[in-house]
Amino acid sequence: MGFPVQRPRRLRRTALLREFARETDLSPADLIYPLFVVPGRQVRQEIGSMPGQFNLSVDEAVGEARETRALGIPAVLLFGIPETKDAKASGAYDDDGIVQRAARALKKEVPDLLVITDVCLCEYTDHGHCGVVEAEEIVNDASLELLAKTAVSQARAGADVVAPSDMMDGRVGAIRKALDSARLSSIPILSYAAKYASAFYGPFREAVQSTPSFGDRRSHQMDPANVREALREVELDIEEGADMVMIKPALPYLDVIHRVRAAFRVPVLAYHVSGEYAMLKAAEKNGWIDGDRVLMESLIAMRRAGADRIVTYAAREAARLLKG
Ligand code: PBG
Repeated sequence: MGFPVQRPRRLRRTALLREFARETDLSPADLIYPLFVVPGRQVRQEIGSMPGQFNLSVDEAVGEARETRALGIPAVLLFGIPETKDAKASGAYDDDGIVQRAARALKKEVPDLLVITDVCLCEYTDHGHCGVVEAEEIVNDASLELLAKTAVSQARAGADVVAPSDMMDGRVGAIRKALDSARLSSIPILSYAAKYASAFYGPFREAVQSTPSFGDRRSHQMDPANVREALREVELDIEEGADMVMIKPALPYLDVIHRVRAAFRVPVLAYHVSGEYAMLKAAEKNGWIDGDRVLMESLIAMRRAGADRIVTYAAREAARLLKG
């Protein structure tokens, strides 16, 4: 029984019908906004390759967070650029470190905003790697202790959720154990479970000055050619105690989002990363695409693939567009 009885265009004729037949929705409540926090006061420095995104001192970040909440966005993801970097990533687990100071200020000034903190060492090491380095190798097990200390210190400072992004084996288990011993058993872990070794992170590394001084991240981040391995990573992280999992980047990995969402019963997040944002902004600036429409189409595609929540630098403009 095909045409002329079947006419799919019937449900597309008017805006009202299209809205009624829509399968997927997007709202500001689905979005998470990343913030880059730096030392100092009244610092607001635009990141060259990420137009509209800034390195912000804590006081400025508080203002930004307040506006973000007012737009209906429930959460921010904090990254920090410390005063100094060293081989042991001391700034990451310093109770008075930049992320810790920002978390404390945000929980005090904007209490109804969820504060998620990125747990990684690459912003804090002088070599820009995500773990302890010996003879140009990133040493897995020695890195776990530092990552666990970082997560505990961030949670003590007020982080509502900790989000390990380093891709060391066993880090979720190590962080869970350390949080539990520190009487922080109620703090959830959002694991960047399937994080690919991606060239789409370029602009982010400019923002936090974490480009590795030698080598790359291919010994711990995933090969873009693999998807069954992503399912394995997610499975292991959930076993170790991850409460939520993230796939990263987003648009080039919609199949991974889809498969993870189908196979597991924890919330699935997508990270619409810096390079995806930079490409959108560059093409928009050149007048080559309608930036607003490409943005909304990209975000709805991530939702359709199965992302429950989306981390995006475009969260605030998306929220404004959704309000109309
Ligand atoms: C590691 C981290 C990275 C990103 C988020 N957490 C960079 C990396 O792995 O090199 C990338 C985010 C983006 O590109 O937007 N701390």
